[in-house]
Amino acid sequence: MSAGFQENVIEEIKSRCSIVDVIGRHVVLKRAGSNYKGVCPFHNEKTPSFVVSDAKQIFTCFGCGASGDVIEFVKRYHNLDFQGAIEKLAAEYGIEIKKNEYDKESKKAIYYEINREAASFFYRRFTRSINPGIEYMKKRGLDPITLKKFGIGYADEKWDSLYRYFMEKGTDVKLLLELGLVSQSKGRYYDKFRNRIMFPIINTRGKVIGFGGRAIGNDVPKYLNSPESPIFYKKNNLYGLNLTRQDINKEDYAILVEGYMDVISLYKNGVKNVSASLGTALTENQASMLKRYTDHIVLSYDADEAGQAATLRGMDILHHIGCKVKVLHIPEGKDPDEFIKKNGKDAFLQLIKKSLPFASYKIQRLKQKYDLHSTEGSVMFLQETAKILRQLSPVEADVYIKKIANETRISEGAIRLEVYGTNMENLNPKIRDNDSFERKEDDKKTEKKSDDSKLLLEKNLIKLMLLKSSYVPRIKPYETIFQNPFCLRIYELIQSLYADDEEIDRKKLADALEPDEYQMLISIWRDVHLADRDEAVFSDCISHIEDGIRHKREKEIIQILSLADEDMDSSVIEQLTRELMEIQKQKMQR
Ligand code: GTP
Ligand code: MN
Repeated sequence: MSAGFQENVIEEIKSRCSIVDVIGRHVVLKRAGSNYKGVCPFHNEKTPSFVVSDAKQIFTCFGCGASGDVIEFVKRYHNLDFQGAIEKLAAEYGIEIKKNEYDKESKKAIYYEINREAASFFYRRFTRSINPGIEYMKKRGLDPITLKKFGIGYADEKWDSLYRYFMEKGTDVKLLLELGLVSQSKGRYYDKFRNRIMFPIINTRGKVIGFGGRAIGNDVPKYLNSPESPIFYKKNNLYGLNLTRQDINKEDYAILVEGYMDVISLYKNGVKNVSASLGTALTENQASMLKRYTDHIVLSYDADEAGQAATLRGMDILHHIGCKVKVLHIPEGKDPDEFIKKNGKDAFLQLIKKSLPFASYKIQRLKQKYDLHSTEGSVMFLQETAKILRQLSPVEADVYIKKIANETRISEGAIRLEVYGTNMENLNPKIRDNDSFERKEDDKKTEKKSDDSKLLLEKNLIKLMLLKSSYVPRIKPYETIFQNPFCLRIYELIQSLYADDEEIDRKKLADALEPDEYQMLISIWRDVHLADRDEAVFSDCISHIEDGIRHKREKEIIQILSLADEDMDSSVIEQLTRELMEIQKQKMQR
């Protein structure tokens, strides 16, 4: 029994107490691939068939069938009940269990019970006599067995059916209000859900935590959902997972759809490894929930803009927690329900086979977004694509680089250049196979270094202007160099305070600054030392800036030239080539 504990204590225990760690204290575990193996403590055996999965945080014995999570292990191993196991783990890992959480949990049990009763009330209305609800669902092609599986019900069109039912049982109306089953207006209570198909939302522990209600007619909203309540957090639940998680685990992938009807319809048609994120964009919690059962997710959201935006966000969240994401495209703007009803299971499975890995999907969208026949469009496409490819391992990225080069007029070299920069050792993916993490760290370090030197440059320039205002007009042509917000602000004030043949009034300047900007000014004044070398420092700074500008232009020209094709004006190519040679010559001379 889990009663007696708030869910978050259980969650915290599960996340803080590593199952490998806990079991490892009692069973000798050896690494076996991504799992650990040992001799089962629950039955007599000589060869180990007891497997512990670090990723899934479960143990399974293939000899005796014992299986469960970390709490289950402690329960069995130490012969404790659920409460005892929780208390033991909490004590060992220093997790605090607050006393009043026992009360909260018993209050939750009351909410669950009310929702359960409401669900069976709606279910009886749906099944006992002919009603608009069952008519509607039959019209949508659903059979009684499927409807029963999902516990589908019907809220009739009267204003107070459910309210009166609970009043006769003596239920506290406050609880009904909190659960959003009943609303109140001008001192009168009325049912929130009327003339709607009722979809109970059931968590993976089998509790009814809320409802979705679909209008049968053209009432708005089309779907009405329970509000958040002490037992219903939309962000933490996925529709249908209570029924489908075994199938998801078995198939080792989950299809994620937008709507209740999509889940039920796919399920009915034999595609059972499915779940829905309840109309909201996928949250990190929902993603982690799915990851307990599989690492492979196929997103099958609607083709409309909202659906595609949700796809992009969902994809990033799933990718971020380490899932492999694919995107399924349904032709003719249909949703999964409409498609499978019309074309059947096999056609849908074909779509799954054809679903695009996340990088392909993103790149395909970029291809549509930019005009690849124009140089400008190609440059934009290349820049955006490079961002995506940088998230992949070099080996994966290489596959895409070849593919893009084949499909567009952009050369492999140009793409590599954009993805990895001019750093030669990055150009060959084989050299740095599978250490993209390290590469990122390196990149960060170089980035940090160049940030530091940029800031130093800005500080030097400001110091020069403060020392001698004659530098102000000489620095103006390079003013885009000021990127640090504090330096930029100081620079702008210097500009406004500047007058011929007068030094900058430092007091006025200081008075006009905000505290953070003022700190910057102090640090410039105190830490930047020019001695008598101000002219030398100035020319150093300027040549540094000019180097940067040349470097940027060089990259740009290389990019344009590598994209150039027969359509490009040859005189333009010639001119760019000449400019490039000039830049490279100047570089050599320095
Ligand atoms: P059917 O029309 O019954 O096939 O539903 P659908 O799933 O095709 O509808 P749609 O694509 O419009 O909506 C997808 C999901 O978004 C639904 O299952 C709901 O969870 C949610 N949703 C849709 N309309 C509304 C609404 O008006 N209010 C709220 N709160 N959610 C909605
Ligand atoms: Mn639909």
